[in-house]
Amino acid sequence: MTSALAPQSSPAKAPIRAIRVGILGFGTVGTGAYRMLEDNREAITRKIGFPVQVVRIGIRDPSKPRSLDAALFTTDLDSIINDPSIDVVLELIGGTEPAGALVERALRNGKHVVTANKELIAKHGSRLVHLAKSLGLDLHYEAAVGGGIPLVQPLKHQLAGNDLLKMVGILNGTTNYILTQMREEGADFEAALAEAQAKGYAEADPTNDVDGFDTAYKIAILASIAFGKQVPMDGVHREGIRSVTAIDMRYADALGYAVKLLGIVQPVDEDKVLARVHPTLIPKSHPIASVRGVYNALWLHGDFVGDVMFSGRGAGSDPTASAVIGDLIDVGRNMAVGGSGSAIPYDTGLKTASIDNLETGFYLRLRVQDRPKVLGHIATIFGAHSVSLAAMEMKTLSQGKGEIVFLTHPCQEKNFRAALEDLGAERMVEEISSSFRVEQAE
Ligand code: HSE
Repeated sequence: MTSALAPQSSPAKAPIRAIRVGILGFGTVGTGAYRMLEDNREAITRKIGFPVQVVRIGIRDPSKPRSLDAALFTTDLDSIINDPSIDVVLELIGGTEPAGALVERALRNGKHVVTANKELIAKHGSRLVHLAKSLGLDLHYEAAVGGGIPLVQPLKHQLAGNDLLKMVGILNGTTNYILTQMREEGADFEAALAEAQAKGYAEADPTNDVDGFDTAYKIAILASIAFGKQVPMDGVHREGIRSVTAIDMRYADALGYAVKLLGIVQPVDEDKVLARVHPTLIPKSHPIASVRGVYNALWLHGDFVGDVMFSGRGAGSDPTASAVIGDLIDVGRNMAVGGSGSAIPYDTGLKTASIDNLETGFYLRLRVQDRPKVLGHIATIFGAHSVSLAAMEMKTLSQGKGEIVFLTHPCQEKNFRAALEDLGAERMVEEISSSFRVEQAE
């Protein structure tokens, strides 16, 4: 008689001698990942239980000088995803195509996939993770958000039991560097951007970073994990940092705030979140306000864990490689025990609320005529829209011209917008120079 608890015999499997890896893309992240595998070979082998062997590297431009054996490289990316001897594909190309089709075909060919591709996961993560899971494969993407900072795995695992009440992230190193230079050096946006480009932090076409797309992908990925359903990208409200000036930085500083490009998500009800990316005044006392330069951070509040903050280097070759290789080690450990288990699927269908429904404070800078009754008139317009003023700075610019900066108490976004429209129609208001949302101290 056999006991139900007796060990079952399973078909004999050939022992694994090495994980055979194909790399797609050999730019900043690919070269870093390869170097980490070389430099830390012994420790990585020990941690997995067998060595990692890079079999092939797929590249676009064969004429670029490279220090490795030319036989490792191929421009035929299909030959990597069709190679039956390859166990794991590292997709380090970026963008949705051809990367998306390559990832899908690699999975269908039975390969685990590790990717650093934020746009692909933000747009197609639910479908691809479901596919991986259905095929018994791993699909990891820690490097897609926050470079070397562990964010994806803690949200999937250690924090998964919490109801998340808010997440606030500085998730783009380029814009955080630019804003830090503007605050600390008094530089204007264009000068700070040019410096970031000269230092290699910003790309020649900085749109993806400075207009908030990169942050939007990243906060959408984190929210999709945290809320268990994919956040639709067209439901993420997005504004970049081109409207921030050195003058606003100075006023914000004097009022006790830093200006940061934040990705913010909060649940609105059971199946709905408000997800937004915009330049924000945040009190200097908030832990995320002191995250400088190219550093990234994620602050969150969970119902049981309370406040948590992660920070570190969010971009660059080495930190991103650290996340890619961490994922590869996870795949290797799963392979060692004959399985997978780290593809945690999430569905589609999360609803997003309009920013009109946001309740937040505002910063507003106006150029006005400097004469009697102006201030009272402006205050009356705010009052008519139920917007309550919290602080004010005022100065004379020249004969008969003044500049006023207001902070409001939290109010409905749509009420503030309506007040702005009325102010814009007033002759005494010569210019609505800028307005930004203000986060409250936690
Ligand atoms: N361009 C990104 C940043 C890095 O500046 O943070 C890659 O996500």
